[in-house]
Amino acid sequence: MLAELACFEQQCRARYAIDETIYNCPDCGGLLEVVFEPASLPGAAPDWARLWRERRTSNDLLEQSGVWRYRELLPFDGHHHQVVSLREGNTPILDAPRAARYGGLDRLTFKHQGFNPTGSFKDNGMTCGVTQAIRLDRQRVACVSTGNTSASMAAYASAAGLDSIVFIPLGNISYGKLAQALEYGARTFQVEANFDQILALVRLLADRLGIYLLNSINPFRIEGQKTIIFEMLDQRDWNPPDWIVLPGGNLGNTSAFGKALRELCQFGFIHKIPRLAVIQAEGAAPFYELIKTKGEFRSVKEPRTLATAIRIGDPVSWPKALHELTVTNGAVEKVSEQEIADAKAVIGQCGIGCEPASAATLAGIRKLTEAGTIRADDDVVAVLTGNVLKDPDYIYRYHTGELEDPDGRKIDARLGNRPVVVPNDADAIARMLGG
Ligand code: F0G
Repeated sequence: MLAELACFEQQCRARYAIDETIYNCPDCGGLLEVVFEPASLPGAAPDWARLWRERRTSNDLLEQSGVWRYRELLPFDGHHHQVVSLREGNTPILDAPRAARYGGLDRLTFKHQGFNPTGSFKDNGMTCGVTQAIRLDRQRVACVSTGNTSASMAAYASAAGLDSIVFIPLGNISYGKLAQALEYGARTFQVEANFDQILALVRLLADRLGIYLLNSINPFRIEGQKTIIFEMLDQRDWNPPDWIVLPGGNLGNTSAFGKALRELCQFGFIHKIPRLAVIQAEGAAPFYELIKTKGEFRSVKEPRTLATAIRIGDPVSWPKALHELTVTNGAVEKVSEQEIADAKAVIGQCGIGCEPASAATLAGIRKLTEAGTIRADDDVVAVLTGNVLKDPDYIYRYHTGELEDPDGRKIDARLGNRPVVVPNDADAIARMLGG
């Protein structure tokens, strides 16, 4: 496969070698994407689909990875011996009847990326990002993160023997995520600024110090995240759903999903492109506003939401996401803090659980079915991006009625499930249990 970097701006499309360390087009400043030459396409799609299925039964680490199993559609030919894998991917598709009813659907399935090694979808991208760092012979990697990216980068960098440097907004990530970065050995800086401001800072430092940047502006992260869709379609025997619903923060995942769907269509794996529905939190919804107003992109200066993973006001990948939303005839929705919290509790009641940002999906589905955008009998897959234990403090406060939104307003514990303090007395407890 001949792979190159290409400028995403349609009027530029400048090409660069796959091993250049660039994150934006040196000509016009546009975002970069990886492109394959069509001449180097693999054989017939069904043959590759069969091979990928067979690889699932292998004990080889590369085949066991839910990312590298699909390596024919990733730009690492000749570098598979350098792969850094923690057996990422392999995440389940779970049926959730209770969540379906709540969302106004006959049926709903969740593709749960929280089953990844560090507990979020970032691992799908990070295995590729860190592998590219090794290919480029970089010793230091860095990112700014609302938590999950840093946990993932720290783990993969340490597994590869690289030094990782993590920048996080002071006080605005959950302890579950910060703890991982520390445990995996990342040098961790808490900065008194928000995600968007810190990204500008890290880009500057990465340039100045020659550190490899692993935020989702890095096109190799996006390549890895494509495999979430490859695996989803593989698990559905290449039967595309009507809708794929995901939360939107920095919009890397939206870009990756759209690219994956376009490639699967182009290479003959699917014949229909599912519609993407991107859900943002009300206090951090610049992409929603862009689509609704059909105007110019306007960043949100002070994004606010308890769903810290998507607390981003100036998403770098918005031009890509806009393209993918158009190509897939997608939709956007925004949801309130109360809607996220209730939807999250419903996902918990399905025995599944997820972190707040992920629950925006179900809250968004409920609004999109009410509006008639998604129909009750549509085939819908929602992607749960992170694990339930990533934000345990939020969960405890919701269930005990102590959760407050960023403006200090109480969130109603509509589906609250408070722990009960009891005496060490069998009779008293039996009475409470109706016996
Ligand atoms: N869900 C979770 C759990 C996330 O951690 C993120 C992003 C998103 C959704 C949004 O995805 O940025 O691709 O639109 N978290 C980043 C981080 C920004 O630093 O961990 P996106």
